[in-house]
Amino acid sequence: MSDVLSRSTPAVGASQSGSTAPSRRTFLQGAGLAAGALALGLPKRARAAERTEITFASAKFFGKQTMAQVVDAYNQSQGKIHVTYVELPPPSSSTEVHTALVQQLARRTGTPDVFTQDVVWIAEFAGAGWALPLDEYFNASVQSQFFPGLVAACTYNNKLTALPWYVDSGMLFYRKDLLEGIGAKPPQTWDELTAAAQEIQKSGKADFGYLWQGKQAEVLVCDLVEAIASNGGSILTPDGKSSALSDDKAVAAVQFLYDTINKTKISPSDVLSWDEEPSRQPFTAGRAPFLRNWSYVYAIAQDKAASSVVDKVGVVPLPHFAGGKSAACLGGYQYGVNANTKNREAAIEFLTWMSSPATQLQFALQLGIAPTRPEVFEDAQLGKEQPFMKQLKSVFTGATPRPVTPKYAQVTLAIQSGVSKALVSGNIKAELEAASAKINAIVAG
Ligand code: GLC
Repeated sequence: MSDVLSRSTPAVGASQSGSTAPSRRTFLQGAGLAAGALALGLPKRARAAERTEITFASAKFFGKQTMAQVVDAYNQSQGKIHVTYVELPPPSSSTEVHTALVQQLARRTGTPDVFTQDVVWIAEFAGAGWALPLDEYFNASVQSQFFPGLVAACTYNNKLTALPWYVDSGMLFYRKDLLEGIGAKPPQTWDELTAAAQEIQKSGKADFGYLWQGKQAEVLVCDLVEAIASNGGSILTPDGKSSALSDDKAVAAVQFLYDTINKTKISPSDVLSWDEEPSRQPFTAGRAPFLRNWSYVYAIAQDKAASSVVDKVGVVPLPHFAGGKSAACLGGYQYGVNANTKNREAAIEFLTWMSSPATQLQFALQLGIAPTRPEVFEDAQLGKEQPFMKQLKSVFTGATPRPVTPKYAQVTLAIQSGVSKALVSGNIKAELEAASAKINAIVAG
């Protein structure tokens, strides 16, 4: 297997050529659903005629398996419902995925019946009345099977308007061998990271020190939330009514990011055009000791076909500033049901399968994305294949959300543009003040 989650630049490798991809049956068996339709003993066409047809739109996720294969496994597992999968761009193309979903949901035609949404769009979709409240289908006892923080993130105005799929959080991938080589432990502060990166770069053992994502895109907001929160700051004030982006703590955090390129030189200027995959590639090619990224990277790093650092990668919480605390941005996509669906029951049945412990386990093993059910973290096979997941459970559950507002789509564009200008020009305070004025107008208006 090579690529675990398709980001902006899908990696070439076994998962795409299909050479090592487990068959659809693997997912079926893994999910304990091999019986299903096959056991009905009906000819396929006869079953198809009686099936309820629903559509499912999601960003493009794939690893050892693709989302299309997962949907196919569901279709094969039973004879009542047939799901047509509509593939949107990868999650790194967040703005494009958002636009595609908004266009479809705003038509209020009931298509797609089911969708996945970035955790940051839940308030907007619920506020617009596009997402069906799900409490009556997934009651308190079902909800208690998921991490409470995720249920809270899926709740808007006291209604469950999304169902937890996977949880993501930023984390630090590091090279165990390179750190051992200089007698250092994984860094806990940004100063420690900088010093270790510089020493390793000086020794000629790596071209770069620290790889992160500075592209004017959603992921920049994630890196920003982490840097600012690790200095005790935030993007909005605690009441959510105004911007805190030009406060001293935020300015110092952005200055640190700027300095990684221009002063301490632990990051190449290319980071300013990188999102997830372009930053991941030099790391798994063995060219840097440190990378900030999401959980999907681990399985790629452990894949001989895609990585020259197999068994050399560790994962720890991101560093913090002196006096601050490590912070990880809360990410992940969650399920939603179209408020205008004409196939409510089928949509709920499909999501019951998609959100079951067995299916969550397969998503974690096959796509490298973390479960939202605590019990799945305890699975032995997951512990063996992706040990960092359980080790970092508290990082996932304690992750820092991006601003929660129905106007997030506007807020993020203002942040992306302002922070991007700050990182390019070095006029950090002035650009963050300008961005703050824009954010204030959005959140107040
Ligand atoms: C990941 C996260 C998502 C975030 C995106 C940014 O897919 O799960 O929440 O918005 O990255 O690129």
